[in-house]
Amino acid sequence: MRIAIIGGSGVYDPGILSNIREERVDTPYGTAVLKVGTYQGEEIGFMPRHGEKHTVPPHRVNYRANIWALKMLKVERVLATAAVGSTNPGYRPGDFVIVNDFLDFTKTRTYTFFEGGEMGVVHTDFTTPYCPELRRLLVETAAGLGIKAHDGGVYACTEGPRFETPAEIRMIRQLGGDLVGMTNVPEVILAHEVGLCYGLIAMVTNMAAGISATPLSHAEVLEIMDQNGKNLRDLIMQTIPRIPRERNCRCSLTGGKIEV
Ligand code: HPA
Repeated sequence: MRIAIIGGSGVYDPGILSNIREERVDTPYGTAVLKVGTYQGEEIGFMPRHGEKHTVPPHRVNYRANIWALKMLKVERVLATAAVGSTNPGYRPGDFVIVNDFLDFTKTRTYTFFEGGEMGVVHTDFTTPYCPELRRLLVETAAGLGIKAHDGGVYACTEGPRFETPAEIRMIRQLGGDLVGMTNVPEVILAHEVGLCYGLIAMVTNMAAGISATPLSHAEVLEIMDQNGKNLRDLIMQTIPRIPRERNCRCSLTGGKIEV
């Protein structure tokens, strides 16, 4: 299986995959659960990041088990989705952003596979955290579908599960963050460490705290995700057949050498 989708808030359904079965994968970090189905003759994995019934909050997702499981299944390319708030007046609710960089404001997570000892001491290059080939395909496919998708944006990851304060959002904006979410760190880091191509489709669900005219709620996030679910599914499903077998990027080279 070379391609997997990691579905964020509001994306719990593998959509148009057929012959779906559940896989439980035991990893050194715990068990990961995903659905595997076929799409256009190819096996595709689907992993709901927060669990099938959205029971796992962002700070408790077992990111290491999830990414290790994908590696064990021989996945090479990951398309992930994330609901985000926007600090950038140019990025409005309902817009997609094909993220190209991140800032990390998390506090309590496990950020690496490389803890020394057997795994070694590895300093992974993060000059290009998100796969440029997947990013280009996502941007081109969205344009072809007439879906508004910004080519690039900086995702600032906060610890959650609370939303941010207005002062935090002003800080993030001043430091160059366009979007805020609670899950992409350490997910993108771990994916990059093990040489996966990782592309993130962020869906803006709200203007961030202090910019939005109203208090924030998870219900609002899910409502916007629901309204735009078809576009998101179309974008993912139209992108998948365009992903070449050969990887024309450096993602497989930047990570550490690992045996799964
Ligand atoms: N902040 C953090 N995470 C989010 C937001 C937000 O405003 N909207 C959706 N996920």
